Amino acid sequence: MTDDAPLASLRETILARNYIKEKGKVTKKEKQAVIVYCSPSGSTRHISRVAENKLEEMKIPVSMSDLGKREDMSPIFSQIREAKNNVCLFIGSPVYVSHAVPPVMKFISELPENTGAYAVPFVTWGGASSGIALYEMGTALKAKGFRLLGAAKVLALHSMMWQSESPLGESHPDAQDDKMIEEIVAGVMKKLSEKSPKEIALSDLAYQPKQVHAEMEKVTLELAKAHMPQRKVVEELCSKCGVCGEVCPVGAVSFSPFPEFGGNCILCFSCMRECPENAIKADFSPIEARIRARAEKLSERPFTKIFL
Ligand SMILES: Cc1cc2nc3c(=O)[nH]c(=O)nc-3n(C[C@H](O)[C@H](O)[C@H](O)COP(=O)(O)O)c2cc1C
Repeated sequence: MTDDAPLASLRETILARNYIKEKGKVTKKEKQAVIVYCSPSGSTRHISRVAENKLEEMKIPVSMSDLGKREDMSPIFSQIREAKNNVCLFIGSPVYVSHAVPPVMKFISELPENTGAYAVPFVTWGGASSGIALYEMGTALKAKGFRLLGAAKVLALHSMMWQSESPLGESHPDAQDDKMIEEIVAGVMKKLSEKSPKEIALSDLAYQPKQVHAEMEKVTLELAKAHMPQRKVVEELCSKCGVCGEVCPVGAVSFSPFPEFGGNCILCFSCMRECPENAIKADFSPIEARIRARAEKLSERPFTKIFL
C-alpha cells in the first residue's frame, strides 16, 4: 500500500504558495509591484521610471503614483491589502535636511498594517549627505509590518543648486546609477518568488557614524527653515498665472492676488524653479556655501549604493 499523504501535503504547500483559492476558484497568484514617490525636481521620478521600465521588462504588473499630485491613495492601500505577500512597494523620497520629505513619511504612516507585503525604500540625495532618510523610512515601514527586501540611495543633482555652474551631484543619476536600480529591482523580484524571501536588516540602513546620526535626528526641516533662502515675489514680473501653485507638491501656495507660501511649504523651490516669468527670487549663495562645506566635511561614500 502506498502512502499519498506526504505528496498531498506537498501539493497543498505548492498550491498555497502559488495559487489563490477563492469561492472554489483557483487562480495563480501574481507577483506585483507598486511604486510611490515624491519628486519635486525630478530625480526621484527618474529613478522610479527606471524601476518601472525594469519591472515591465520582467513582465511584472506595476502601478506608479506621484505623491506630489496629491491624489487619493486609497486604491493603492486596497491593492496592498489584497495582494498581501505578493506585492512589493517601492517608495522613493528625496533627502531634505537628512530626512525623507514629509509627504513620503505621511504616506508611510497611512499604509495598512500587517498585510504581509514587502517594501523597498529608496532615496535620491544631492551629494551633501544621504542622512538618515533610508533608516527612518525603513523603521516606519517595519512598524507597519512591511518586510524590507532591499533599499537604495542614489546620488542626484542637488535640487537647491539648479542655478549653480557646478552643482553637487551634477549629471547624476547617470547610466551607472540606473544600472544599479535595475539590479536591485531584479534582485528584489527574484527574492519575492522565493519561499521565504530574505529581508535586509534595519541596522544596514543605519550607516552614518553614531554621532552624526544622533545630530541628524535633532535637525528637522522645520528647524532648518529659518536658515533657508527667503523667497520674494516680484509683483511687476508676476503674471498671476498660477503655475507655482500647480507645481507645489503640498498645496502650500495661495494667491491674494500674488502667490504666498503657507506654513506647510517643504522648501522644494519648485514654485521658483518652474515660474515662467522668473518672478520668484531668492539668494542661494549663503546656503550653497554651507552645503558645499558640509559635503566636504562628511565626504559620504559610496555615492550610490544598493542594499540587497
Ligand atoms: C530643502 C532641501 C533640502 C535638501 N537637503 C539635502 C541633504 O540634507 N543632503 C543632500 O545630499 N541633499 C539634499 N537636498 C538635495 C536633494 O536631496 C536632491 O537633489 C534630490 O535628488 C532631489 O530629489 P528630486 O529631484 O526627486 O526632487 C536638499 C534639497 C532641498 C530642496
